Amino acid sequence: MFHLRLAHQVKAAAMASMITASLLVFSLLHLGNALSVDYYAKTCPDAERAVTAAVKKAIANDNTVPAALLRMHFHDCFIRGCDASVLLNSKGGEKAEKDGPPNISLHAFYVIDHAKRAVEKLCPGVVSCADILALAARDSVALSGGPAWEVPQGRRDGRVSRANETNQLPAPTFNLTQLKQSFSQRRLSTKDLVVLSGGHTLGFAHCSSFQNRIHNFNATTDVDPTLDPSFAARLRRICPVHNKVRNAGSAMDTVTPAVFDNAYYELLLRGRGLFSSDEALLTHPKTQGFVSHFASSQEDFFKAFVKSMVRMGNLQGGEEVRKDCRVVN
Ligand code: HEM
Ligand SMILES: *[C@@H]1O[C@H](CO)[C@@H](O)[C@H](O)[C@H]1NC(C)=O
Ligand SMILES: *[C@@H]1O[C@H](CO)[C@@H](O)[C@H](O)[C@H]1NC(C)=O
Ligand SMILES: *[C@@H]1O[C@H](CO)[C@@H](O)[C@H](O)[C@H]1NC(C)=O
Ligand SMILES: *[C@@H]1O[C@H](CO)[C@@H](O)[C@H](O)[C@H]1NC(C)=O
Repeated sequence: MFHLRLAHQVKAAAMASMITASLLVFSLLHLGNALSVDYYAKTCPDAERAVTAAVKKAIANDNTVPAALLRMHFHDCFIRGCDASVLLNSKGGEKAEKDGPPNISLHAFYVIDHAKRAVEKLCPGVVSCADILALAARDSVALSGGPAWEVPQGRRDGRVSRANETNQLPAPTFNLTQLKQSFSQRRLSTKDLVVLSGGHTLGFAHCSSFQNRIHNFNATTDVDPTLDPSFAARLRRICPVHNKVRNAGSAMDTVTPAVFDNAYYELLLRGRGLFSSDEALLTHPKTQGFVSHFASSQEDFFKAFVKSMVRMGNLQGGEEVRKDCRVVN
């Protein structure tokens, strides 16, 4: 709607899209105070330890938790900034983000509830749910064999969560142009796009997320020719046209799905990236160069991932410290 209204007023298409992009940034995010790694040093020094303990305990029972928490933080940051809007429950007729269309893999909200309860016991009303989620995402990566880093904190929790805003998330069918736009609207770079896509070294996707590549790819070709043929054949067996198996799907990193490593990039170079949006990273020499580099250096991927996570985590939006992560104060 934003696009249409502006297009009316501004004739020059290039100009219009520049203005649209910058207005969108301002409508989505505002710059809060600078975050800091010792934000709770005086007010809640044991908060981090309590969050880590809750995440560890959950992982011991369910190894899909790290992927869930990493993705949850990404979704949170991409809608209204990292303000824990993703954690709010629907209220009456007002559907929240977590009940919006691409919700099929968001789960493990209970882990954040447990962490919040532990933190509230130590220091009530101090630590935001958005910070707890950012810490839990970091712990998820570190406890899966990935890098550990200090998380800048001081985020505030938002008071709004709308199901229809999940359409602001990038889709797995996006091409490189669309992906770059989605990231640049949030002041994230093309490098951030390639680096953060490496989060797909963890976790699982449902058939619907890659259906477009294995059936009816286009008018002349049934299967995306950039897919490795044997990988495509396997995906087609798991996900037939009329799929009747609930929750059928595939790991994104089919070799080490629960290990945070650089296998995502190696697989991508071999036609074994799962989504069109992953494959899209190979369609330009610049992004392809990053992919090749990270495939050959896990160390550089880890360093870059930490930087990009901090940049994504800087997107702010909230205004309060929620008492219960599922409801506004
Ligand atoms: C670049 C644009 C991105 C697109 C188009 C995208 C798309 C998707 C899709 C479609 C799924 C599978 C959902 C399902 O079928 O259940 C998924 C899962 C996942 N994504 Fe992304 N994603 C993107 C970026 C990111 C980023 C930036 C991160 C974190 C750094 C991330 C982390 C994950 C994780 C960990 C999962 C697995 C979740 C689970 O197993 O519970 N993604 N993503
Ligand atoms: C996903 O959305 C559906 C329909 O809006 C809703 O019934 C379901 O509870 C949601 N799932 C999660 C995990 O929030
Ligand atoms: C999104 O949903 C909210 C209510 O939750 C509504 O006020 C708003 O008009 C909707 N926006 C669009 C674009 O549908
Ligand atoms: C990317 O997708 C958009 C929307 O479908 C389309 O307009 C554009 O031409 C595509 N760009 C490329 C380079 O394929
Ligand atoms: C379908 O995709 C293939 C491979 O990308 C391409 O060569 C072909 O031109 C496409 N056909 C149509 C009708 O778009």
